[in-house]
Amino acid sequence: MPDGFTSRDERAAFIAGLPKAELHLHIEGSLEPGLMFELAQRNRVAIPFASVDEVRAAYAFSNLQDFLDIYYQGMGVLHGEQDFYDLTAAYCARAHADNVRHIEIFFDPQGHTTRGVAFETVIAGIDRALRDAEAGYGITSKLIMCFLRHLSEAEAEATLDEALPYLGRIAGVGLDSSEVGHPPAKFERVFARARGLGLKTVAHAGEEGPPTYVHEALDLLKVDRIDHGNRSLEDSALVQRLANEAMTLTVCPLSNLKLCVIDDIAGHPLKTMLDAGLRATVNSDDPSYFGGYVNANYLAVADALDLSKDELLTLARNSFTGSFLDDAAKARHLAAIDAYS
Ligand code: HPA
Ligand code: ZN
Repeated sequence: MPDGFTSRDERAAFIAGLPKAELHLHIEGSLEPGLMFELAQRNRVAIPFASVDEVRAAYAFSNLQDFLDIYYQGMGVLHGEQDFYDLTAAYCARAHADNVRHIEIFFDPQGHTTRGVAFETVIAGIDRALRDAEAGYGITSKLIMCFLRHLSEAEAEATLDEALPYLGRIAGVGLDSSEVGHPPAKFERVFARARGLGLKTVAHAGEEGPPTYVHEALDLLKVDRIDHGNRSLEDSALVQRLANEAMTLTVCPLSNLKLCVIDDIAGHPLKTMLDAGLRATVNSDDPSYFGGYVNANYLAVADALDLSKDELLTLARNSFTGSFLDDAAKARHLAAIDAYS
């Protein structure tokens, strides 16, 4: 055990006590099977599973699309404002249990509006739970509205139009769903409009898509962070650029494993990213589907890659430095990490 860990329990305890931010979390991907059943009953929605065990057995994916098909089906149980509240409140309780102090969460409005659920219903339920989590746990939060990249840019523009009355509650826009075949260039104009409205921008890039998609996210979408970014490592000039620009990567180890972006966790590129000077962070992506919340993600890579205390501290520091918090709030969180180390 490097850097003073004498056992796996000690490493797990160190991770558990570390103050952290989570920057890559799809709120619909935190829908646990138990709540899925409860909401299916509440809303009289049929789901093709007889038990929680059957749901879990269905979560065997060989790529991103396999997962997305089940993910969009799962979110079909969400209908009323209280459903979005319950979903978000459950995630905040789990984040608090992992000593997560700040969260920047994605939501997929088009996954709901296309089913006839009003934009207002979605954002009101999520926002009310986030306010209660701040009051109850002291967890601060930002909301990032994602555009589904398998849909058209015109549909993204219409979604941004729908968001206009709620911009006070939305910190940024993102790009998710099926990556290959839907490059960032497809969304250049809507991202420019979002930036003009004062919104931050992020995009999933280099999860399954090639390094050129990461270049496009930087050059055309002018993103503030890259979500995933794994395949950047195939392009050494890109790695240099990401390091020079101190670009944050929101890396999701258990997601990468479950979606077969990597063959096994020992082959995860996180340590390579840190060694290359990249500002990597650790996140859970869709924890209900991928088998673990943020601490489980830290522990999985710490064990497999033999990460040191210093490396774990760097990952936690990166999570606040790469957040959309203001400088004073970042400094407070970084001081808490210094005090912990
Ligand atoms: N990748 C792309 N889209 C997504 C993901 C992901 O990991 N999770 C939810 N939507
Ligand atoms: Zn994601």
